[in-house]
Amino acid sequence: MTDHTADVTPSPTSGLFEAERSAEIVAASFVGTADDRLKEILTALVRHAHAFVKDTGLTVEEWAQGIRFLTRTGQKCDATRQEFILLSDVLGVSMLVETLNNPADGQFTESTVEGPFHMVDSPPRALGDSIDEVHGGGEPCLVTGRITDADGIPVAGAAVDVWQADADGYYDVQRPGEVPDRNLRGLFTADADGRFRFRTIVPRYYPIPTDGPVGDLLKATGRHPNRAAHLHIEVSAPGIRTLTTHLFVDESPYLDSDAVFGVKESLIRTFTQVDDPAMAAEHGLPNPFRHVDFPVTVQRRAPGG
Ligand code: BEZ
Ligand code: FE
Repeated sequence: MTDHTADVTPSPTSGLFEAERSAEIVAASFVGTADDRLKEILTALVRHAHAFVKDTGLTVEEWAQGIRFLTRTGQKCDATRQEFILLSDVLGVSMLVETLNNPADGQFTESTVEGPFHMVDSPPRALGDSIDEVHGGGEPCLVTGRITDADGIPVAGAAVDVWQADADGYYDVQRPGEVPDRNLRGLFTADADGRFRFRTIVPRYYPIPTDGPVGDLLKATGRHPNRAAHLHIEVSAPGIRTLTTHLFVDESPYLDSDAVFGVKESLIRTFTQVDDPAMAAEHGLPNPFRHVDFPVTVQRRAPGG
């Protein structure tokens, strides 16, 4: 049984509750927080949460409804489903955090959301391999690119982690037992010149999962659940800032109404139709096929950064 007399640390005195000073009173209770940044974040969180309650005139039943919504969000999470990330995504918070923390400054490839489907490790594959293990739909496609820094110096040996949905709009983790584990995922190592290449299928748009509380929120607000067609790319290497981004297909619907606000103009590319039997044979692709080139500019970390 818990010994309630064990912790005799006195709480900081914050005074009796008053609605007018509510945020101030609660913030005073954080005075003993050893971690200054934690104290700053908690204080701001309380200030904004209390202002939200006051601004909206939130009722007891509405707050209870909000708690039930968040409870269901947590209950929907498991090893292959992350409803809280989805919630952060559809509210635009993921994009805001990602963008503010990774300014492209007109020099670097822009970042976008990681999303909830990067929860399994991608299998290492050789340059030129296909990430499509099903060959059951979708247009064959060659993706090429080169990782350089802002001075154009190649990042030799950079890790290029890619993942995408299948021709029906599902990730492998949404179809366990139906498609090979880790289908449409791959971890490539750029060559000495920073170049990478792999085969896949042209991504198509797809709906984010709607069978949970986030789907209810979209329905209640009259929003569609679709993401514009994209391929996820994460580039990392010692000494560079990891870049999490997407490559969007220019002919996709939903580019200007992406369910998670993830589209940035600079990430939209044409997947060119190629009719070239020799090139198709060289890359092990049927002819004709699509080709997209995605040069990636990453940021070197400051020494010690
Ligand atoms: C995705 O692109 O995989 C994704 C991102 C945000 C929410 C759902 C899916
Ligand atoms: Fe995705």
